[in-house]
Parts: sequence; C-alpha cells; structure tokens
Amino acid sequence: MAKPQVFVSRNIPQAGLALLRAHCEVSVWPHDRPPTTQELIDNARGKDALVCLLTERIDAAVLAALPSLKIVANVAVGYDNVDLTAATQAGVVVTNTPGVLDDTTADLAFALILATARRVVEADALTRSGRWTGWGIMQLLGHDVHHATLGIIGFGRIGRGVARRARGFEMTVLYHDALRAPEDVERSLEARYVTLDELLRQSDFISLHVPLLPQTHHLIDAAALGKMKRTAIVVNTSRGPVIDEAALVAALKEGTIAGAGLDVYEHEPRLAPGLAALPNTVLLPHIGSASIATRSKMAEMAAQNVVTFFAGGVPPNALNPDVLGRVRR
Ligand code: DGY
Repeated sequence: MAKPQVFVSRNIPQAGLALLRAHCEVSVWPHDRPPTTQELIDNARGKDALVCLLTERIDAAVLAALPSLKIVANVAVGYDNVDLTAATQAGVVVTNTPGVLDDTTADLAFALILATARRVVEADALTRSGRWTGWGIMQLLGHDVHHATLGIIGFGRIGRGVARRARGFEMTVLYHDALRAPEDVERSLEARYVTLDELLRQSDFISLHVPLLPQTHHLIDAAALGKMKRTAIVVNTSRGPVIDEAALVAALKEGTIAGAGLDVYEHEPRLAPGLAALPNTVLLPHIGSASIATRSKMAEMAAQNVVTFFAGGVPPNALNPDVLGRVRR
C-alpha cells in the first residue's frame, strides 16, 4: 500500500521528522520563514496530511484548495490559527499538542515576571554599555516579586503551573477563569478565585493564560488597564490579541501601569507602534515553549497523531474526533 503523503510546513525537531519518515512520504518546507498561504497550498497540494505551525492560517479556503488533505496536525497547543469549524465541516481531523509545554511556558511567564519587575534587560544593557559608573543606591530600582499579589487570568494547566511557582516566592495568588477550579486545586495552590474586576484592581502582577477566543479577544483593553494599579505589571505568554496592544502602549506611556512582559503580540511578528521604544517592557519573540526538550516532544506528538490516524486509530490529541467516521477519502 502507498505510504501517506505528508507536508511539514517548517523544519521541526528530528524526533517528529524521524517518526513521520518511518511511516510516511515526507516533504518539508525548506526555508526559515513561514510559507505564504499560496506557497502552503502549492506545497501541500495532493498531500494526505499537513503538519503545520501556529504561523500558518488554515481556513475554509485553504481546506477547499487542498481536497486530498485528511488531517492537520498543529505543532502547538493553541489552535486559533486553524478554523476548527471549517475543518470539521470539511471532514478534516485537527490535532494539537497539549500538556507537554505547560511547565516550559510557566517557566517563561515567571522569567518575564522577574525580568520586567527587576529591570533585568535594562540592567544587562547598562552593564555592557561602558556607561556603568559603579554601584548606585538609586540605580535601576524595580518592584519586589516576593510577597506581591499575582493575578492569574486563565487557570488551566499553564496558569496553575505559574501559581505553583509563585508559592516559592510567597506570593498571594488570585485567579479568574470562566470555570472555577475544584476546591482541592485551590487549596493545594493556595489560590483564591475572584472576579475579573477584583483581580485587575488587586494584583501587582497579572499573568494571562487564556486561549484566544471571541470572548478573550481584547480582554485586556483600555478599560481593563485603567482598573489596574499604577504599579501593576502585565505578562502575556498566551496569545497577543488577548491584549489591545495599542491601548497597552498608551497605558505604559501614560503610567497607567508600570510595565509589561510580553512573549506574544497582536499582529506577529509586527509590534504596535511605540512598543519597542518603551523601556518598561521586556519583549520576547514568542518563545514560551522553546526549550530543546519541549519542542522535540511537541514535534513527536504531532507526528504521532498523524501516524496513529493513518494506522486506523484515533489520534490521541484529536480536537474534532467526531470527524473520524466521515473523514475525506
Ligand atoms: C502554543 O503551543 O500554543 C505556543 O504558543 C507555542 O508553543
């Protein structure tokens, strides 16, 4: 029997490619940059499976242009880049990579909390610059993280991981989520459920861990920023459009809040005008899950979903398993 044909939209870690190559005919996009939509269509034409990244937008038009496609394996836990409704209607299985990146992303959220509060990037630049004149009692004063109040918006696996880390810093942890966590989880993480309003008003640090949905788009807008303490620091490792980035720039300029640590942006890789020039920000290029081990696990997980599907099984991370009985053939 002919092997399934797979297009991989970027060079991914070897563990994933090796697993795919053991079972499928694999072609890989050869460039560092993402393919354009037309390039994606041209390269995936006639393929049975697509292994893609969050930079690829897989919508109804792309699915219609690729009628042979049966499965889309997204190498990310967030799948807002894939129109799941359109895929389900078209009879295409969609999978993601949950679970394996939680601790790595929670680590990075904490790195942003610390780096922004303690002005680590500014301090590093001063040390290297040759302009450092020696220890100064008024130099680079920041905000304490220990014993501060951390507000976590979105209390899923990653949000809870951040709460777990906050205990080591003896922080007071508040959280808000559409669903309240079970009592034993709240107790073990010493996290208190509050309304969004309360969280915005009481927190010294606000860390975002919600998926991008119509309900979370611009969740942090000018009104939300206006409710925060003037000393508050906002950290985002979820998805950029959860924050109204132009409103954030205005709030940071006007001193409505003290700082922001961002790993994600509203229009990646572009930044909102003025953001890059603000000293009270730490700006990372979407590296939340970027550890060697985690990216390797993500690639392997995506590959396993594809391999399981073509072996006739249920892909372990299928987002629309109902499609399995009526997949395009
Ligand atoms: C995800 O998985 O959704 C991250 O943003 C990239 O690892």
